[in-house]
Amino acid sequence: MGIHINPSILSADFANLQAELENISTADAAHIDVMDNHFVPNLTWGLPVVKRLREVSPVPFDVHLMIEDPDRWAPQYAQVGCESVTFHAEAATAPIKLARTLRELGAAAGMALRPATPVEPYLDMLSELDMLLVMTVEPGFGGQAFLDVTLPKIRRAAEAVAGSGTPVVVQVDGGVTRESIVRAAEAGATCFVAGSSVYGAQDPQQAIASLREAATRAYAKTWGACGCG
Ligand code: DX5
Ligand code: ZN
Repeated sequence: MGIHINPSILSADFANLQAELENISTADAAHIDVMDNHFVPNLTWGLPVVKRLREVSPVPFDVHLMIEDPDRWAPQYAQVGCESVTFHAEAATAPIKLARTLRELGAAAGMALRPATPVEPYLDMLSELDMLLVMTVEPGFGGQAFLDVTLPKIRRAAEAVAGSGTPVVVQVDGGVTRESIVRAAEAGATCFVAGSSVYGAQDPQQAIASLREAATRAYAKTWGACGCG
């Protein structure tokens, strides 16, 4: 199954994070937003908290580092067992070196782009990545509206991945709802982060299933059955 739904615990109950991870046990991974109050104007959790949460989580971790100097900090998230670690292209000094380090440590290497960062300068390094994250809101906060202006970039990224022959997952993050997920999947994304639309729902597992169904149908309509990821 190639469509991935990764709920963001940024919208979970912070007083009950272990239970909130168990509430999304049917997800493909939990999306963990690490913010440092510098790269983005918000602060969440760091390595010691993420390390302990990983130990009690029933699903793999998809860590999204919205921090300065990921060259220094990102490898430690791989070392504590996070399955996927994504750094921002705008913050990394040596993204190829960093992606190689993450892979050597056994993690999938992801690179994220802010909504206004073009994908073209990075297309030659697709083979160094396992995932390309196209932000569909300005990073920093949950609950924002999906930016349709990013759809052409999602499509160009998906087309470049298809043309490159390397199995890079195109992930989108921000404002993903039952409606916007259709447009993102039609544009070629296969991995979807959803915070408020999962944890704000009465039944998070049902919300995951609903998003998965909508994305699977929309992707297949445009790109054929998803054999990706
Ligand atoms: C925003 C974070 C997102 C956020 C998404 O900076 O990177 O992962 O949790 O939340 P929603 O789905 O509510 O937009
Ligand atoms: Zn995120």
